[in-house]
Amino acid sequence: MNILLVGGGGREHTLAWKINKSTLCDHLFIAPGNAGTSPFGTNIPLAVNDFEGLAAFCIKNIVAMLIVGPEEPLVKGIYDYFKNREDTAHIQVIGPSKEAAQLEGSKAFAKAFMERHNIPTAAYKEFDTSTYDAGIQYIRNHPLPIVLKADGLAAGKGVIICNNHIEALAEFQLMIQNSKFGEAGKRVVIEQFLDGIEVSVFVLTDGKNFVILPEAKDYKKIGIGDTGPNTGGMGAVSPVPFADAAYMEIVTQKIIKPTIEGLQKESLDYKGFIFIGLINVQGEPFVIEYNCRLGDPETEVIIPRIENDLVEILSATAEQRLNEINICISKQYAVTVMAVSGGYPNEHETGKVITGLTDTVLEGTVIFHAGTKQQGDKVLTNGGRVLAVTSFGESLAEAAEQSNYMLEQIHFDGMYYREDIGFEFR
Ligand code: AMP
Ligand code: GLY
Repeated sequence: MNILLVGGGGREHTLAWKINKSTLCDHLFIAPGNAGTSPFGTNIPLAVNDFEGLAAFCIKNIVAMLIVGPEEPLVKGIYDYFKNREDTAHIQVIGPSKEAAQLEGSKAFAKAFMERHNIPTAAYKEFDTSTYDAGIQYIRNHPLPIVLKADGLAAGKGVIICNNHIEALAEFQLMIQNSKFGEAGKRVVIEQFLDGIEVSVFVLTDGKNFVILPEAKDYKKIGIGDTGPNTGGMGAVSPVPFADAAYMEIVTQKIIKPTIEGLQKESLDYKGFIFIGLINVQGEPFVIEYNCRLGDPETEVIIPRIENDLVEILSATAEQRLNEINICISKQYAVTVMAVSGGYPNEHETGKVITGLTDTVLEGTVIFHAGTKQQGDKVLTNGGRVLAVTSFGESLAEAAEQSNYMLEQIHFDGMYYREDIGFEFR
């Protein structure tokens, strides 16, 4: 079958790399893709939110499966758009319906869903313009630290953790009255702070059955030792040593099962990946957030550890046959280290020539492109996050060292990466 993969980051490069190993894919298209995806398929210059353009392309090129990488088209309803059009309704769409994507698209929706299904999460209340004064009062009486969350999508920036009440009140006012996060932030979830170590759990569901994919931990802070501002992710590791079989059994019973049953009970149409951000508080998992897609850079460590044919498991997802699938996971450790542009996550330059990409590739290492662009025979930087270098090893330390070694051979002006990814487990 022909497949169209939507997106253009490290996550999509990894998916393209994996789909390329499948015997079931005739031709892969990636919209828009990047310099790294082009050896595995045809990059199509269509934007991820151009539903009409994507549909027309699928019809013309007899695409049978649409795999949606990023959250924005999902939250905007790409699944429903394809299902509701007579000429695209037959196309298998991997991703939830618009309503189910609210699990990521609205923090208030996700919190209410968890409350309805007794899924452990931090205590919270939601406020908007009409309940502004009650929100101020709630913050004044709230123990510190206080977590404020913009309700809608805010490109990973919508969560603010405040260590004093004055800051929390100011941020609340900025969000509701000054539209700090636009419409996304005019409804605010105020949440109890949970102190613990985070782990990202990935589930693939057909709406009825589910399979658990490898878990990962990502490193969001820009600086060594988890310091400085948040980024989209500076690296990731998988497996996560504390998420052993006993812990994952607790997660399955208390979180994954009630989530899938909740989707079913509420008739939320969901055939795709669920990324559950958990925080481990003294051995007990709590949900920090749901995402309706795979994570980036988590994908760069979890997808390579899956030994199954990805297209086979995605077809089973679309056809509600996931109960027939046995997931096989490699025992190896995978570590990805992200090379970013100088200045990221703040203002940064792009268009820098990348050298050292092809001549020094090591066995056990894959270089995934996160933000790159081909120009003639050169590969240029094209974003804040540029490359995700994934290595495999018998230990986390071995895999991390190999990625760092590989990055020493690669260069572009202003390049920066964290050498300590996975530090607490090495
Ligand atoms: P999110 O955008 O929902 O992924 O949140 C960003 C980050 O904020 C998470 O990865 C956590 O590190 C942190 N965070 C979110 N909610 C809480 C909470 N209730 N307690 C502690 N940390 C939190
Ligand atoms: N790495 C976090 C995310 O993809 O949202």
